[in-house]
Amino acid sequence: MKVIVLNASPRKRANTAKLCKSVVEGAESESAEVEYFDLYSYDFKGCMSCFACHLKKNSENPLCFWRDELKEILKKCLKADAIVIGTPIYYGSITSYAQAFLEKLLFAADTYVLDEDGNRVSKIKKEIKTAIIYTMNVTEEMSHFNGEDQLAIMRGYLTNIFGECEALYAYDTKQFKQYSPYLNNMFDPELKQKSNETQFPKDLKKAYELGKRLAK
Ligand SMILES: Cc1cc2nc3c(=O)[nH]c(=O)nc-3n(C[C@H](O)[C@H](O)[C@H](O)COP(=O)(O)O)c2cc1C
Repeated sequence: MKVIVLNASPRKRANTAKLCKSVVEGAESESAEVEYFDLYSYDFKGCMSCFACHLKKNSENPLCFWRDELKEILKKCLKADAIVIGTPIYYGSITSYAQAFLEKLLFAADTYVLDEDGNRVSKIKKEIKTAIIYTMNVTEEMSHFNGEDQLAIMRGYLTNIFGECEALYAYDTKQFKQYSPYLNNMFDPELKQKSNETQFPKDLKKAYELGKRLAK
């Protein structure tokens, strides 16, 4: 069982990375072979619209043809049994690196061919389980500010192309060790600390369980 875990936060030791690492631990507890990547460490852009992947002669090849530092990671993803991507929410959406990664992963595996039911034909012939972990400042009660529909868009495409896509939402994350040096009267540092001590450990556990489930 091969699992790829991708941290799409620029911070390599913060909330998203911690949740991603918990997925790694869960998957490894089921003896999965896990590889972890910090996407912001790699030099790549989103889909360059070259359409090489959509040429008829490449109808069986789901790998993006563009040569950049993402190519080897994409290759590994296509050989994996499960792919997990963790992303902070930036202005109501996934980060630009998460978006760029998913554009390349999805478009090369996708086609403009419809089957008899009107569904787009995917080049992926085996199911690859996927999951997205979203981390955000807002509380669950305020989550409508981030637009659930907006967050569900990429999950929908992952489901269509690869199969089932799970979601884990980590709300009310603590953004700074100390809030006092920063311009802020929107977030109460004490409430953030409390959430970090009570809710975040539960989210870490959920991430661990997600890793276990995907690796089974
Ligand atoms: C540029 C930027 C935009 C953000 N926009 C939002 C937002 O729209 N909604 C939200 O809930 N949190 C927002 N946040 C907060 C982050 O999503 C949240 O702190 C996240 O958990 C950070 O992940 P990290 O700790 O892994 O870096 C934003 C943070 C940054 C830096």
